[in-house]
Amino acid sequence: MKKKASKKKIANYFVEDHLTISKLVKSAVEKPINRERVLKKIEWHVNRHFYIEEKAFFVFLDFAKQNNPQFFRRFLSDHNHLLKLVEDIQQNPKSKKKALNLVKSLGKHVSFEVDKFYPYLEKNLDKKDKKTVIEEIEKSIDLGFYPLDKLRDYYKEKTDALLSKQ
Ligand SMILES: [Fe+2]
Ligand SMILES: [Fe+2]
Repeated sequence: MKKKASKKKIANYFVEDHLTISKLVKSAVEKPINRERVLKKIEWHVNRHFYIEEKAFFVFLDFAKQNNPQFFRRFLSDHNHLLKLVEDIQQNPKSKKKALNLVKSLGKHVSFEVDKFYPYLEKNLDKKDKKTVIEEIEKSIDLGFYPLDKLRDYYKEKTDALLSKQ
C-alpha cells in the first residue's frame, strides 16, 4: 500500500542519492585510473539530484509563506558552488586536490540538508505544500529531468532575489 504523502519524509527521497553521489566522488579520489568516466557519472547524478530538489522547492512552494529565506539561499548557493567544482574537476581530472575539495564540499552540503534544511521543510511546510512537494518529487523521479539551466530560467526571479542578498 502506498504511504500517504503527509506521512512521507522529504529526506527519504534524497538520502540514497546522496550516498550514490558520495560513493562516486570517493571513488574518483581513490581510483585515478577510472576518474574521467566516474566524473561524467558524477556530473549526471549531481545535475539530476539538484534538478529534482530545486524543481520541488522553487517551482511549487509559495515563498511568501517561508520564514527562513537564508536556508533557501544557502541551499542554492551550495548547489552553485558544487556545480562549479564539478565543472572545474572535469577540466582537471587528474587533480586529487580538486577531487578532495569536492568530497569536502559535498559532505558539508549533505549535512546541511539532512540536519537543517529538510527538517526545516518538514516542520514548516503546511500540509498542502508538503503534499505538493512530495508529489512533484515523485513525478520528477518518474519522468526524469531537463537541463538544470532550463529549470532555472523558469524560476529566475526567485533565485535572483535570493542570490542578490548574499
Ligand atoms: Fe540533496
Ligand atoms: Fe542539494
